[in-house]
Amino acid sequence: MPDWMIKSFDYHNASEEEYGALYHFTVAMRKERHPHDPPLGESEFVARIKSIPEAIDMRGVVAITEDGDILGEANSFVMPGDDNPHLMQASIEVHPQQRRRGLGRRLLGFVADEALRRDRTLTMLESFSTAPAGEAFARRIGASLGASSRTNQLVLGEVDRALVQRWLDAAPVEPFDLRFVEDAYPEELLGPMAELFNVVLNDQPREELDMDDVHYSPDLLRYLENMLLSTGGKRWTAIVTERGDGAFVGYSEITWYPSRGHIVHQQGTGVYPSHRGRGIGRWLKAAIIERLLTERPEVQYIRTNNIASNAAMLHINEALGFHTYFTGSIWQVETNALLAYLG
Ligand SMILES: CC(C)(COP(=O)(O)OP(=O)(O)OC[C@H]1O[C@@H](n2cnc3c(N)ncnc32)[C@H](O)[C@@H]1OP(=O)(O)O)[C@@H](O)C(=O)NCCC(=O)NCCS
Repeated sequence: MPDWMIKSFDYHNASEEEYGALYHFTVAMRKERHPHDPPLGESEFVARIKSIPEAIDMRGVVAITEDGDILGEANSFVMPGDDNPHLMQASIEVHPQQRRRGLGRRLLGFVADEALRRDRTLTMLESFSTAPAGEAFARRIGASLGASSRTNQLVLGEVDRALVQRWLDAAPVEPFDLRFVEDAYPEELLGPMAELFNVVLNDQPREELDMDDVHYSPDLLRYLENMLLSTGGKRWTAIVTERGDGAFVGYSEITWYPSRGHIVHQQGTGVYPSHRGRGIGRWLKAAIIERLLTERPEVQYIRTNNIASNAAMLHINEALGFHTYFTGSIWQVETNALLAYLG
């Protein structure tokens, strides 16, 4: 008999003890994935979990001991809306000291049941180079590599300030305006931002991922934003518009949590195809870095996650001095393959 059992976990309405146990488990998992980062605070973690939008219908289970210690967790969710109706996202994690004794396989049973319940034929899972067991597991269960991602990091103290200045000096400022929006997007920007996202985010390479475009609506932008802001996250969005009619040209944004304010996450950067090749991407990035250097001197690192084959973005990032921090793999596995593995 195993000394643990599988129990469903209600992310929105768990007891204080249950949230506490999940928090301790997550701290151990994050320590493996990001060994140099300080842990999340418990109240911030609980706030983040509670803010998971109902619309993604996240369901999960934990492998838990009689004493209430969590040894593993699996969850599944789907993106809201009608996009990619064949697809489900899932996560499986087992505490580093509890591996290779069948917990991952049991948790995978939950994932397979979820794929059947939701009528999804394909599940996506992610693993990271800092925890190589994930890749071995993914290959064993019949998953194939959908895409490789790279998390790059810039040590802000080492940034070439002269280069940043040259990019700012070379910016095509004449026909355009650059401005910053802090935290929530004002109502009138939601529509144009969603339109821009639909073009530039769907334009990123997807490598072998069996996935169609995602349609960003103003509602989707708002609730993604709520997940960040309702848990204390901060955001700066730099936006370039055409002078005159104010039409959107491009954007770049960063987010951070004040409790770990020395780490900033570079989120999306995108320029409409008709405006590419004029230094607008470099301008946006340089404007953000310049503002960080002057207004947030406590920032030590900027991190960014790109699909490994996104040459344009990697080119800009490498010129700035970003280096690979860790890599990731997005795996995809057919529901039939999961069922065959589980037997
Ligand atoms: C991936 C992970 C969940 C596996 O958990 P686990 O409890 O060790 O997995 P199990 O013991 O149930 O093993 C399931 C199968 O995978 C194989 N496997 C698991 N880890 C392995 C490894 N490091 N090397 C080779 N095979 C491995 C097992 O041999 C087993 O195969 P079998 O069915 O032929 O016996 C765990 O290593 C983990 O949490 N990794 C970090 C998070 C992660 O990357 N998750 C995403 C995975 S896509």
